Amino acid sequence: MLHDESAAPPRSLNAAEWDHTYDRTVAGWDEEPPPVLGVLLAAYAPPPARIMDVGCGLGTTARWLADRGYTVTACDFSTRAIEEARRRTPATAAVRYELLDATDPASPLHAFPVVLDRGVLHTCPTDGERRTFAAAMSRMCGPGGLWFHVGAAALSEEDALNQSRGPSWTTEKTFLDAVSPWFTVLALHTADFGRRPGVTDWPARYAVLRRRAT
Ligand SMILES: C[S@@+](CC[C@H](N)C(=O)[O-])C[C@H]1O[C@@H](n2cnc3c(N)ncnc32)[C@H](O)[C@@H]1O
Repeated sequence: MLHDESAAPPRSLNAAEWDHTYDRTVAGWDEEPPPVLGVLLAAYAPPPARIMDVGCGLGTTARWLADRGYTVTACDFSTRAIEEARRRTPATAAVRYELLDATDPASPLHAFPVVLDRGVLHTCPTDGERRTFAAAMSRMCGPGGLWFHVGAAALSEEDALNQSRGPSWTTEKTFLDAVSPWFTVLALHTADFGRRPGVTDWPARYAVLRRRAT
């Protein structure tokens, strides 16, 4: 389903593997998000909302958010990614980077009104890891907070079965099973993950989720 394998992120919740990926490959998925994400953010969480960009990679989305007036904290558990994100970000930009594992229950970062994962949940290889990640998002945003998710969408059961590498293509049901213990769905759309034809224009799920009060 992926047109260009260099745009395929590994399936892993392991920081060392991600360091290796950033050392050895070009991050083929790294680009500004398409306009649909800006439209959803403006509708549900207009600037200057405080946003946590979870799994920020090289910081491209974090800088894109700051350019739109958001106050951004961005985290990643890959040392390589955070070093490069800091290097690419002007000192004047409203972005603060943190090196941390978002799934660490002892993480000091929580209670953000808005959290974003673009291409992170879909790196979880199993249902259990998707649940672990969703639970981490619930801690990150706290009761009433919003989670904007962008990740690979299997458009049929067949698509979900027919995959060998790259992101985990989940059906809507698989996605909802992972997030529903903590979140209510406010919006669910399918649109291209990225902007580059034949490289990152594969189908992605754009979800806006609200953390339930209890
Ligand atoms: C496919 S990349 C997406 C990067 C960026 N969000 C983007 O859209 O270009 C996934 C990123 O999530 C990070 N990541 C995965 N699991 C993580 C975790 N548990 N805590 C923090 N970062 C994580 C990886 O290191 C990697 O940089």
